[in-house]
Amino acid sequence: MIKTYLVTGGAGFIGSNFIQYILNKYKNDIFVINLDKLTYAGNLNNLKSVEKNKNYVFVKGDICDKKLVANLFKKYNIDYVVNFAAESHVDRSINSAEEFVTTNVYGTFNLLENAKKAWQTGEDCYKAGVKYLQVSTDEVYGALTEKESSFTEKTPICPHSPYSASKAGADMLVKSFYDTHKMPLNITRCSNNYGPYQFPEKLIPLMFIKCKNKQQLPVYGTGLNVRDWLYVTDHCSAIDLVLRKAKPGEIYNIGGNNEKNNLYIVNYIINYLSKHFDKTISPDLITFVKDRKGHDFRYSINSSKIQKELGWKPEVSFEKGIELTMNWYLKNDKWIKDVLDGSYKNKTT
Ligand SMILES: NC(=O)c1ccc[n+]([C@@H]2O[C@H](COP(=O)([O-])OP(=O)(O)OC[C@H]3O[C@@H](n4cnc5c(N)ncnc54)[C@H](O)[C@@H]3O)[C@@H](O)[C@H]2O)c1
Repeated sequence: MIKTYLVTGGAGFIGSNFIQYILNKYKNDIFVINLDKLTYAGNLNNLKSVEKNKNYVFVKGDICDKKLVANLFKKYNIDYVVNFAAESHVDRSINSAEEFVTTNVYGTFNLLENAKKAWQTGEDCYKAGVKYLQVSTDEVYGALTEKESSFTEKTPICPHSPYSASKAGADMLVKSFYDTHKMPLNITRCSNNYGPYQFPEKLIPLMFIKCKNKQQLPVYGTGLNVRDWLYVTDHCSAIDLVLRKAKPGEIYNIGGNNEKNNLYIVNYIINYLSKHFDKTISPDLITFVKDRKGHDFRYSINSSKIQKELGWKPEVSFEKGIELTMNWYLKNDKWIKDVLDGSYKNKTT
């Protein structure tokens, strides 16, 4: 039977990779509705390869819009909701947090409420085969020192930025819909993703573009903050597995086992571009700037639960993933140009 997905935020970085991943994997066995508000982070150029696919439809709209979401559940027989839609950039949440609370918390609530209405058949009973999946982040756990052991699913939630606090709030609401209503759902908490189509406000594409243009490379503080990096298709395969195989109510950490500090990443990009693009590019471009307020020192994810229970493991090594990513950005000048000059906003279907 055909499975119908409501993917929210599917015009963003991970959502667009996920839509391509599932359409490629399940072909005619699925139908995908991509609901996206097209904020600055939504880019329909990310979905050119699927826009004419008969198993895919794009709906421009807000996850906070009660009527719109209710109508989507009426119009389509939705089996899966995968909620990627979010305000996702920590720096922006420090400058202004309102949109983060609205989209990340209220928007999640609106999706849950509508999914529950559409799926519930009796007290604690739901249509067969339905599932809601909340795409969350390791940032909800807070920060670690250099020596502390990695976050497990039992690590207490302790977010520090308005972004991570809004994601944690959403996680708590999602969990409450399982604890209270037994709604079939899962939460995944993933580490830093990288790969094609990432908006160039995030570390890797930002540094790549600046470095290629021989601009200064602003590195926060000492550059020693550590993140665990996962290639985006490995995140997609984990979500696919959790959606289809995981027991409702479970939370899964997803990580790449690739802890690197920011300076390492920036130097990697410099070396790559000096080897493959312009040999005059050098570490002299690095400029240390005032640290981000409340900057979490280290994130580290223990993903042994998903590995043991569902047999997932990351397939793409950091070396392979970063090469794929650098090559993609090198070959996709037009995508970068459209983002930088804003013309990507003109594409509406
Ligand atoms: N990027 C990462 O490294 C990472 C890591 C772990 C978890 N996550 C989570 O994964 C999800 C996707 O992250 P991303 O990096 O692809 O984000 P992104 O910022 O690239 O994309 C977010 C998308 O959501 C859309 N959107 C925003 N507000 C909306 C609203 N109110 N209604 C409908 N659509 C809306 C945007 O237009 C955009 O297309 C987020 O929930 C994020 O918290 C991201």
